[in-house]
Formats: sequence, structure tokens, C-alpha cells
Amino acid sequence: MAYKVKDISLKDAGKKKIEWAENHMPVLMALKAQYEKEQPLKGLRIAGAIHVTKETAVLIRTLKALGAVAAWAGCNPLSTQDDVAAALADDGVEIYAWRNNHEEYYWCIDQIIATKPNLTMDDGGDVVFRLHTDFPDMLSDVIGGTEETTTGVHRLKAMAKDGKLKYPIIAVNNAETKWDFDNIYGTGQGTIDGILRSTSVLIAGKNFVIAGYGHCGKGVAMRAKGMGAHVIVTEVDPIQGLRAKMEGFDVMKMDDAVKLGDIFVTATGCRDVIVKKHFEHLKEGSILSNTGHFNVEVDVKALEKYAKSRQEIRDNCVKYTLPNGRNVYLLAEGRLVNLSAAEGHPSEVMDLSFSNQVLALLQIVKFHKNMKPEVYEIPAEQDQRIAKLKLESMDANIDILTEEQKKYLGSYAEGT
Ligand SMILES: NC(=O)c1ccc[n+]([C@@H]2O[C@H](COP(=O)([O-])OP(=O)(O)OC[C@H]3O[C@@H](n4cnc5c(N)ncnc54)[C@H](O)[C@@H]3O)[C@@H](O)[C@H]2O)c1
Repeated sequence: MAYKVKDISLKDAGKKKIEWAENHMPVLMALKAQYEKEQPLKGLRIAGAIHVTKETAVLIRTLKALGAVAAWAGCNPLSTQDDVAAALADDGVEIYAWRNNHEEYYWCIDQIIATKPNLTMDDGGDVVFRLHTDFPDMLSDVIGGTEETTTGVHRLKAMAKDGKLKYPIIAVNNAETKWDFDNIYGTGQGTIDGILRSTSVLIAGKNFVIAGYGHCGKGVAMRAKGMGAHVIVTEVDPIQGLRAKMEGFDVMKMDDAVKLGDIFVTATGCRDVIVKKHFEHLKEGSILSNTGHFNVEVDVKALEKYAKSRQEIRDNCVKYTLPNGRNVYLLAEGRLVNLSAAEGHPSEVMDLSFSNQVLALLQIVKFHKNMKPEVYEIPAEQDQRIAKLKLESMDANIDILTEEQKKYLGSYAEGT
């Protein structure tokens, strides 16, 4: 089996990590046990590009157990865990992934597309976009795909709107049991973890600026506040701005926040959030980081040009000295800090996201003939099923509506 990873001898360390993840992903393991005999993905070729972490390895093992043949790549140059990639290669997965650079990253994506997939699993939309633009001959074999993140869903919806999307995609990101848990609790904890691993800075007492108060921003804000930071939010949506204000956070324009912040996290999925005009106002020692999908939120190229000098301080932390003599620190080259400088989301939360991935694939296999080349939402029953299984795995029970209660909730006749 073909593969390209950094160092195959890292496989044993990777296997131990995957085992840990398996033990913390009970819903996914339950789905695996349920469908293994049926082999619903038998013989289907999957091209998957989702961050190569121990949790993704559990997903890949599950897909294999259900009969699929998976070829895999990362979905960001810096997020691959090299030991996990080695373990997957040793397991016989066709994998092209190592902590790499922009060109190598796209080379890896092209290798998995070249396997002529029947299904794609994307995280950011790069596989689907490249498949449509550079490999149109491969499209005829594809029956559908899934998308893991907000930015990817935006891209694919834009493709569908322009009539460019040629096969159906299920927006796994938009499942309630994904967006409201992975993006909030996963990104919230992991982003702080990445900042701590690359700086060891004390969060308490700092002005912590978060750009974007969507799912990810809310999670980061919640955790930064819990660690004693003073949280400042920047937004473009008045409703989200209002939510942040009512949560007790300061809300202001980035032009003002740059003068106050000690630690910055961009979480918008947009571009040009911290740009050249802001650099001269940054305080001495400011830490800049991003947790949005692409490295376009902090204008790193402009910072490289503007700074007088650049020095690597430690892993994932570069000090830039500005013309005004102040030093600012950029984490993980402005790429998603939780996956580049830490381990990504904890297994427990990826259990939800990847269970959604598996069930979404099964939907496509069953219904693709009736699906149009559009972006589909996850069915509500799937969300309910996954939430129920997760609650059970956490020894938490909820009440069941009585017939009288159901009737009451569905009627308009009863008042006080
Ligand atoms: N780091 C990770 O592991 C991880 C996990 C999930 C999602 N993501 C990525 O994080 C990004 C955000 O995802 P989300 O689910 O929170 O999206 P979301 O749509 O819920 O939130 C984004 C928020 O940013 C705001 N915003 C947009 N442009 C802005 C700007 N220029 N300035 C300030 N605010 C702006 C929007 O109004 C919105 O409230 C996406 O790129 C997504 O793909 C990363």
C-alpha cells in the first residue's frame, strides 16, 4: 500500500494514542459494533482529508471496519500528528500526511483524489474544490461527500449556488451535535491548550481579545473568562455582538481592541481581521493567534514584511520586533492554534462529530440516487440519536414526555 508519512518508526507511539481515543469515543465505537457485520460501505473508495489526529484515526478504522477503502490526507499543513499518520500507514491505510508546507499539503490532497473516490470526506472544502477544478474526470465515480467545518460548508454552498457543485454533500458541521459541541467545547478548550503549549502565558488578569462570537468564539470566550481573563469581543453581526455584551464581555471594533489586548484569537472564518494598520497599536508582548480554518485571519504576510526582525522563541511561537521597538508573538504561523500547537479537540467531543460523519455517509450510500448536487443538512433524528447515545455513555438520563404532556405541547386550547 502506498503512503507518505514523516517517519514510519513513530507508529507505536501513534497506536497508543489511537487506543486512548478509542476508549474515549463510545458512540463511534457503538456505531462500529452495530454496522460492522452489515458492511454498508463495502468496496467503496473514500478520499478523506480531515486533520490527521488520533480521533480521525478512530474514524478511519471505523470506515475500514464497515467495508470502505480509505485514502487519507490532512486538511491543514500543520495539523498532522506524525505518529498517528505512521500508525495509520502501518495499519494499511493509503495515507499522505505529515506536518508539512503549503505545496506539500496540496500534493497530498491530489494523491487521495487520484484514487478515484466514490465518496469524499472534507474539512475545509479543499478536496471537493480541487476534484471539481483539477480532476473533473474523476467526478463520475463520486456519489456524494461530507463536510466537517463551517468554512467548508460556506465554500460548498457557494459552489452549489453557482451551479458548480456536481454531487451531494452533507454538512456534518451543521448538525446540532457537531456545531454546538465540537466548535464550542472542543475549540474552546483546545485553543487555550494551544496558546498555553506555545507560550505558557498566564491567562488570569489578561485582556483576551476574541474576534468572532460564533460557535468557536463563544467556546474560547467561555474558557478564557473561566481562567480569569478580561474578555473583549469584536464582531460584525449585531446579534452576536449583543450576545457577547450581555454575557458581560466588552464589545468593540478591532481598531480599538488592538490597543488593549494582551492575547488575541481570531475565530471568524473571514479574512483580514488583524491587518497591517493594527500592528503599530499592539501593546508590547501581545500574542496573536488564530483558530479559524484558514490562515487568512491574521495578515501574516504583512506582519513578516512590516517587522524589523523575526526570531523563533520556541515551538509554534515567533517573536516579531516592530519598527516602534515593540515585540509581538505570532503562534503557529497564524494557522489554527489548537491543531497546530496542541492536539486538536479532545476525543470525547470528536466522538459526536465523527459519529455524525459515519451516519452521514450511510445516508448518502442509501439515498444518493435521490439526492441533488446540493449541500444537505443532517436529519434531526440523527442528532437526537447521537445525543441520546452520548448521554447514556455519560451516565446521564433525561425524562420522557408522558402522553398527556405530548398532547399539551401540541395543542392550543389549554391556558391557565
Ligand atoms: N480550530 C478548530 O478546530 C475549528 C473547529 C471548528 C470550526 N473552526 C473554524 O472556525 C471558524 C469559525 O467557525 P464557527 O463555527 O465559529 O462559525 P460561526 O459562523 O458560528 O461564527 C463566526 C462568527 O464570526 C463573525 N465574523 C465574521 N467575520 C468577522 C470579522 N471580520 N470580524 C469579526 N467577526 C466576524 C460572524 O459574525 C460570526 O458570528 C471557521 O473557519 C471554522 O471552519 C475551527
